[in-house]
Amino acid sequence: MTDRADIVWHDQTVTRDEREKRLGQKGAVVWFTGLSGCGKSTVANELDRQLGDLGCATMLLDGDNIRHGLCAPPSVLAEEHGEQFADRFGLGFAEVDREENIRRVGSVAALMASAGLITLTAFVSPYRRDRDRARAIIEGSGRVGDFLEVFVDTPLEICEQRDPKGLYKKARAGEIKHFTGISDPYEHPESPELHLRGGDDRTPGEQAAEVLAELKMRKIVGLPEAG
Ligand code: ADX
Repeated sequence: MTDRADIVWHDQTVTRDEREKRLGQKGAVVWFTGLSGCGKSTVANELDRQLGDLGCATMLLDGDNIRHGLCAPPSVLAEEHGEQFADRFGLGFAEVDREENIRRVGSVAALMASAGLITLTAFVSPYRRDRDRARAIIEGSGRVGDFLEVFVDTPLEICEQRDPKGLYKKARAGEIKHFTGISDPYEHPESPELHLRGGDDRTPGEQAAEVLAELKMRKIVGLPEAG
């Protein structure tokens, strides 16, 4: 086993502060969590657009897309890398797979924040412990306050009614195992930085504007103060 003492951190010449000054903003991670179909991707995309309109440098990591690459399932990896590799590194939706999914995404988001990017993530991330670990990765390698948890709190009945990908129907028919809200749990955040009620009468754009206001209030958007 590789000894962790054999892996030594090497400080980089260009610092995070320098990168942030160049961009005129602070790096941060806005972590959207909620059931499949709750609207977290929609709000995150709206926020991405609003930030872009202000000239901010952003990135959006979305579960549905990340699971095509960095966190691909075994069936995708097997073709190129073989069965053994695919079994070891491919991810599905069992509890331990989600744990690794969120660990990878948390680590990537931490890197993006350290590049000064306002990083938006949209993952079901149903387990509190995994989200707390992502917060610890991001704040531990950066600053306290770098992680904003945004709970998109849409009742299951509404998500199921929307069923944009037909997955709830399949889950109810027993064709998808471990489906969040149906056969797997969702542990809601206890004290998220922001709590959006999905299915209320606001548009996704209005909900995104609430998140944007929070980012302005925290001086993530706008020139960081000198020093
Ligand atoms: S997470 O739980 O590990 O954070 P992630 O956000 O990456 O999940 O992926 C969730 C997306 O995968 C959902 O939006 C849905 O489209 C799809 N999906 C497929 N199977 C499942 C499942 N068993 N549970 C939840 N989402 C699933």
